[in-house]
Amino acid sequence: MQLLPSLPLLAATLTAVVAHPGHAPPSAAELEATRAFKRSTHQRYSHCASTSSIQRRHALHSQTRRQQLLSDLRTQLRRNSSDYFSTVLGTDHQSNRTDLTSSNATTSTVFASNSSSACVLQPEVTIGPYWVSGELLRSNVTDGQPGVPLYLDVQFVNVDTCQPVPELFWEIWSCNSTGVYSGVSAAGNGNSDDTSNLNATFSRGVQQTDSNGASQFTTIFPGHYTGRATHIHVVAHANATLLSNNTLSGGGADGAIHIGQLFFDQDLISQVEALQPYSTNTQNLTLNADDSIFAEEASSQGSDPVVEYVLLGDSVQDGVFAWTTIAVDVGAEYTTQAAASWTDDGGVANESSQGQGPGGAPPS
Ligand SMILES: *[C@@H]1O[C@H](CO)[C@@H](O)[C@H](O)[C@H]1NC(C)=O
Ligand SMILES: *[C@@H]1O[C@H](CO)[C@@H](O)[C@H](O)[C@H]1NC(C)=O
Ligand SMILES: *[C@@H]1O[C@H](CO)[C@@H](O)[C@H](O)[C@H]1NC(C)=O
Ligand SMILES: *[C@@H]1O[C@H](CO)[C@@H](O)[C@H](O)[C@H]1NC(C)=O
Ligand SMILES: *[C@@H]1O[C@H](CO)[C@@H](O)[C@H](O)[C@H]1NC(C)=O
Ligand SMILES: *[C@@H]1O[C@H](CO)[C@@H](O)[C@H](O)[C@H]1NC(C)=O
Ligand SMILES: *[C@@H]1O[C@H](CO)[C@@H](O)[C@H](O)[C@H]1NC(C)=O
Ligand SMILES: *[C@@H]1O[C@H](CO)[C@@H](O)[C@H](O)[C@H]1NC(C)=O
Ligand SMILES: *[C@@H]1O[C@H](CO)[C@@H](O)[C@H](O)[C@H]1NC(C)=O
Ligand SMILES: *[C@@H]1O[C@H](CO)[C@@H](O)[C@H](O)[C@H]1NC(C)=O
Ligand SMILES: *[C@@H]1O[C@H](CO)[C@@H](O)[C@H](O)[C@H]1NC(C)=O
Repeated sequence: MQLLPSLPLLAATLTAVVAHPGHAPPSAAELEATRAFKRSTHQRYSHCASTSSIQRRHALHSQTRRQQLLSDLRTQLRRNSSDYFSTVLGTDHQSNRTDLTSSNATTSTVFASNSSSACVLQPEVTIGPYWVSGELLRSNVTDGQPGVPLYLDVQFVNVDTCQPVPELFWEIWSCNSTGVYSGVSAAGNGNSDDTSNLNATFSRGVQQTDSNGASQFTTIFPGHYTGRATHIHVVAHANATLLSNNTLSGGGADGAIHIGQLFFDQDLISQVEALQPYSTNTQNLTLNADDSIFAEEASSQGSDPVVEYVLLGDSVQDGVFAWTTIAVDVGAEYTTQAAASWTDDGGVANESSQGQGPGGAPPS
């Protein structure tokens, strides 16, 4: 399988920016969604952190390895989890792996190696105000948006067995280079008068994991918006079936077993933000160190929400290949709240959210 096509210099394709996202109040919808989430849910951690995926698979069949994992887990639990946030912040996630920049790297080469692979043992976090249900199963979600190409390869493992979870449907959504989400017309998300954005689908899509529990998205590196560090949302669905129109049954709204967010090294973000059109974004940049959801996800020993990555070329504008492993509880059930749905008649806002996203309207 071809994963990394040869990439033309992005500089040649960058287009001039015309739009400036709105100067809306600081993501009140996002903050409210976070508060609502904290009122309603719990966190879950696990022990798959310290081993690579291959090791994890073998560990299952080995009593010795199992005991080792148990011992590791106890050590981890003894550590002061509040110290872990600074450990994650201080970790450079740029990988020195050279096997991933060849044009024939596949999910098996990414995850079947012994090199340290970040394992995201994420606490569940808020779905936020910008999830759109009913998105299409597709790998390339760029829709022509200008930005740094991002090839995101994510492996899901079962939190109880540490085995890969094949055939799992999962999706991503993130804002574009100037900090606006597609599919949602709401205060705080660019120009709220631009209802045509309801019909935009960039940086959103669904994928199904392969036998390694992994699959890839081709997207662009997200920009930033007020109040949040640069991130990509992830939701994984249990029991979903694929309809003939390439969407999930129930719009994917039923049976979320994981709701999380992925982050990037701050110095990688800085390199991206220096480029057009990211650099034209007028919204304030929030650092990882100041992001409450980053802190929440990185608060537990072994839970590192920052993706590992290699640059595809000599500079960041040639593209970024990033990967991580997420441990999920396949029996979990989390509630999703959609700001809108993608339907056979395009994007349709969730009327109960009154155009503000499930987090509600920002204060005036
Ligand atoms: C980001 O998306 C918004 C909403 O669709 C759009 O107005 C803006 O032009 C996009 N940014 C870039 C750089 O294309
Ligand atoms: C854990 O970290 C906090 C904050 O740094 C500190 O106040 C506390 O004393 C630490 N506890 C232990 C047991 O190390
Ligand atoms: C890559 O990094 C790892 C961990 O940081 C280190 O142990 C290893 O020696 C490095 N490999 C090379 C080829 O530099
Ligand atoms: C990828 O291609 C290189 C030669 O370009 C070859 O040496 C290597 O074995 C290939 N790797 C895989 C996983 O096929
Ligand atoms: C992984 O590590 C094991 C044991 O240390 C070793 O036997 C194996 O060759 C390594 N595999 C790769 C792909 O490096
Ligand atoms: C992804 O799709 C865009 C159009 O939206 C296209 O320009 C680009 O070449 C595609 N990227 C890859 C790697 O196929
Ligand atoms: C998935 O289906 C199984 C079997 O019907 C059920 O027990 C489980 O609760 C479902 N999971 C979710 C998240 O809906
Ligand atoms: C950015 O932050 C500064 C300092 O907190 C504030 O004065 C300014 O209004 C903010 N700008 C925007 C666009 O939110
Ligand atoms: C896909 O099919 C479902 C079920 O008929 C429908 O509700 C949904 O609107 C369709 N979505 C798209 C994008 O065509
Ligand atoms: C989205 O596209 C559909 C189909 O072309 C159209 O019927 C609908 O009016 C559009 N919605 C908006 C908000 O522009
Ligand atoms: C629509 O928004 C409301 C209010 O935020 C929320 O409770 C509900 O779950 C959303 N509907 C769907 C289908 O997600």
